[in-house]
Amino acid sequence: MSKPVKHIHLAAHFPGVNNTTVWSDPEAGSHIEFGSFAHLARTAERAKFDFFFLAEGLRLREQGGEIYDLDVVGRPDTFTVLAALAAVTERLGLTGTINSTFNEPYEVARQFASLDHLSGGRAGWNVVTSWDAFTGENFRRGGYLPQEQRYERARAFLSASATLFDSWRGDDIAADAGRGVFAGDPHAGGFAYRDAHFDIEGHFDVPRSPQGRPVILQAGDSEEGREFAAATADAIFTRHGTLEAGQAFYADVKGRLARYGRTRDQLVVLPAATFVVGDTDADAHEKAAVIRRKQVSAQTAIKFAEQLWNRDLSGYDPEGPLPEVDPLPGENTISRGRASVRLYRDPVATAREWRELASARNLSLRELIIEVTGRQTFIGSAATIAEEINHLVQQDASDGFILVPHVTPGGLDEFADTVVPLLQERGVFRSDYEGVTLRDHLGIGSSLPGNLERSA
Ligand SMILES: Cc1cc2nc3c(=O)[nH]c(=O)nc-3n(C[C@H](O)[C@H](O)[C@H](O)COP(=O)(O)O)c2cc1C
Repeated sequence: MSKPVKHIHLAAHFPGVNNTTVWSDPEAGSHIEFGSFAHLARTAERAKFDFFFLAEGLRLREQGGEIYDLDVVGRPDTFTVLAALAAVTERLGLTGTINSTFNEPYEVARQFASLDHLSGGRAGWNVVTSWDAFTGENFRRGGYLPQEQRYERARAFLSASATLFDSWRGDDIAADAGRGVFAGDPHAGGFAYRDAHFDIEGHFDVPRSPQGRPVILQAGDSEEGREFAAATADAIFTRHGTLEAGQAFYADVKGRLARYGRTRDQLVVLPAATFVVGDTDADAHEKAAVIRRKQVSAQTAIKFAEQLWNRDLSGYDPEGPLPEVDPLPGENTISRGRASVRLYRDPVATAREWRELASARNLSLRELIIEVTGRQTFIGSAATIAEEINHLVQQDASDGFILVPHVTPGGLDEFADTVVPLLQERGVFRSDYEGVTLRDHLGIGSSLPGNLERSA
């Protein structure tokens, strides 16, 4: 029997100012005004995307003791933005990244239950565990959580939240004017939750929301992160989107589900991807080369290199050769607040590989950084991009993609107008929403009591 054709999931990421966004592009608008968020969300909804996605940074990043103003600056609060978007969209899922290390379950569960009500069942929660002490200084407990405990707390956090989401049955509001009874059950919302991290009890003040609980996304790549996703998440946000890396990641995380009594279609794998659409493939590649040089300006190239070298490289020429010195060993002190610094597990070995690559291909420092920081990117005519996305999904490199436009907020328009219709023609992407909730769009089923407890 041949394999059934998979339906593609697509989401739109509003990145804010970071190293994907070309904020200086003449076509770029504000990254803070509501009109920008509304534009991207409306485009995603017009194209029948599954959801809109917001990342989160809880402290301005710093490099060399100064604010690093090219990466994750000036992002407004997630819940405020998503609640406002609920009013100008009807079907699009609204997903936000909220940290489980620095928040409290009661407050976060309340916000998500409220968002789910306001949006009619479209809320999604990307649970991240960023832990570093630098970020923690912004919070009352400081950087109190050792790295190895962050997923333990995340599991407890989700478990406590599930208890809260589940504390109303769904039919507890009688609103019986004749009898003068509003809450039909005098104990509605009652809960008690205790473990090593939380000791909370009382009455949850938001009645059961349309989805029961928000869709849970996870974005962490360690062994613990993958296991956490297999046990608790409905979808994974990942960086592995190329054919081989995607297939390896996909097989790995889907293979973990059976341990938790879950089936392979209960976890949707969504890599981040940028894209450049052109009239022809050649045109798109030309455009992409110009965009990459804007994304990795001379200044950004030095900043990226400093993150690996753990030293001040401001005296180096970005258009010249790579530094001959080795990265400084030990804790990275030059760059603060950036989780991916940890990606370079052996900075000296990475610097050696980079030097070899630069010398083999005759690359300047900036060209090398352009090369090694490139993420999964679709470049080509609309037909080429549609073909490639479909191929990757049918070959189990992913279940779809979270698209990150490089121009805010109009960067998705062309994709919506040219690539999406081709996917619809192939019958691999919806022509209209079939369901109402984000769970419907993702095809992951309900979260009514019973399913909630799998995170315990
Ligand atoms: C694709 C991806 C996106 C992420 N986005 C965010 C984010 O927006 N905010 C954040 O605080 N952490 C983010 N993270 C960091 C993770 O949540 C996590 O804290 C970090 O990766 C360490 O977990 P790990 O060791 O399991 O990878 C992201 C990670 C990945 C892989």
